Order: sequence, then structure tokens, then C-alpha cells
Amino acid sequence: MSSLIYIFLVVVLVPHVVLAREIMRSEEIIFDQNYKVTWGDNHVISINQRKEIQLTMDYSSGSGFASKLTYGSGLFHMRIKVPGRDSAGVVTAYYLMSQGDSHDELDFEFLGNREGKPYALQTNVWANGEGDREQKIHLWFDPTTDFHDYKILWNPHQIVFYVDNIPIRVYKDNSNIGVGYPSKAMQVQASLWNGENWATDGGKAKINWTNAPFKANFQGFDVSGCQSQTLIDPNCASNNYWWNEQKFWQLDPAGQRQYENVKQNYVTYDYCKDRHRFPTPPLECLY
Ligand SMILES: *[C@@H]1O[C@H](CO)[C@@H](O)[C@H](O)[C@H]1NC(C)=O
Repeated sequence: MSSLIYIFLVVVLVPHVVLAREIMRSEEIIFDQNYKVTWGDNHVISINQRKEIQLTMDYSSGSGFASKLTYGSGLFHMRIKVPGRDSAGVVTAYYLMSQGDSHDELDFEFLGNREGKPYALQTNVWANGEGDREQKIHLWFDPTTDFHDYKILWNPHQIVFYVDNIPIRVYKDNSNIGVGYPSKAMQVQASLWNGENWATDGGKAKINWTNAPFKANFQGFDVSGCQSQTLIDPNCASNNYWWNEQKFWQLDPAGQRQYENVKQNYVTYDYCKDRHRFPTPPLECLY
């Protein structure tokens, strides 16, 4: 009997303890180490000695924060819990963006929903000031009840968006055939804002202000990125950074299977398949 309990402890509990330690570490980082509030100061609430930040939005303002530094490559990570109940028209965004003209941008955008409907998560890729590369998925869980992990891998070979370590979108470097690829130093951003003109049901579902203030929570303020002040920094392509190593140049077989599953079961919109908008598919869609 006691040896059974022992086996239970080792086999079942130990991996969880190890995993929990991993998560703990990123949750221990305080906000101010890497980030600063950039919008709606009085709508930003600090929780747990600034290891957690809550962005709020009411009729007067939304709010947002950004990294203190800019980066030229990396694996960017945030733990997010998005507004619950009726959040139609309320957009929670976590993204990377460069400064200035012809900007580059990598977006996670939670599009808000009428209570009870599945939450839509949109991703987009901008390169040299050109976006229009939207994809949408329905999440396989309710992102309003708990924190989940959202990650963006960005190296010279591919960009991968991950939800709880499952790849939901891959954007390859096809610059050799003239497709734009983000390469300018970018800042990490997060915001909660009024997107009722477009976000939910294509803009038909408006914000119900009776439910304000809306609240989105963030944790995990560690950053694994190549710090860079210059617009394009060849040093950030170096394989000395672990996220640039060859094993991150494409998905591994397990990741590829997960990605195929997401494409089959959870993608609800893909610009590559929108013949109405793009009678001729954009070049990157052929690869
Ligand atoms: C707005 O939300 C309130 C409170 O949940 C609800 O009673 C009301 O019916 C909602 N209004 C609309 C237009 O959905």
C-alpha cells in the first residue's frame, strides 16, 4: 500500500512540481523590470507586488503597457486572462511592433464576445507597413476563467504563434521570393481597447457599457529577446541565441501534428483562403 502511494507521488506529482516551478519562475518577475505603463495610467491596477497587472477599460479610457526595450528576435511570452462575461467589442491585444514608417508588427488580438459564444483569437503579421494577413481561431478553452500562455517565436527563419505551447500559426521567411518578413527591432505591447467598430461579429456586436469596467490580467514579465536599439540588427540573427538555433527553424514533428489539428478544427478565418478579398492568393500563401 505505502509503496503504491510512493509510486503515485513520484509518477504523478513530481512532474507537476517541476512544471509548476517553471511557471513560478516567470511569474516571479515584477512588471517594472521589463515593462512600463504607456496608456491610461489610472486604469492600470497592480496585483501581488506587481507580479500581476490588470488593465481596465471603461467609457473614459482603455489602458496599455509596453516593454522598456526593443528587440530584434526572441521568444516572447505572456500569461493572459481576458475579460469575462459579455465582452463584445472589447479587444485585448498582445503584440510586437516596430517604430516609424513601414512598420513591422506581430499581433495576438482577442476579439471579445457575447457571453456564451466561443472566444475568437485573431493573429496578424505586418511587414514593411503591410498587414492584411489576418487569421482567426476559436480557442478550445475559455480564456476568461484562467491564465493561459501566449507566445511569439521570432527568428530569421519563421514566426510561430503559440497558445499553451501549441502552434496555431506559422509565418515563414519567404523574403527570397519577395514576401515581406518582419526584421525591424520591435517593442512588446499589451492593451485593452475599444474595438467595437470591427472586432466582434465584424463590428455588429457593440460594447454593452453596463458591464464596464472590463478587465484583462497579465503575468509573466520575463523577456527572452535580443536587445537592439538599431532598426535592423544583424547580431540578432546569431545562432548564439537559443531561439535562433536550428531546431527552431521549423516545427518539430509533434508540433507539426498539433498545428495540422488546429488548422483542421479551430481555424475560422484564413486570409489565404479568402478569394473574395484576394482573387489571387498572396505569394506567401503558396508555401
Ligand atoms: C447589457 O448588460 C446588462 C447587464 O448584464 C443586461 O441586463 C442588458 O440586457 C444588456 N444590454 C444589451 C443591449 O444586451
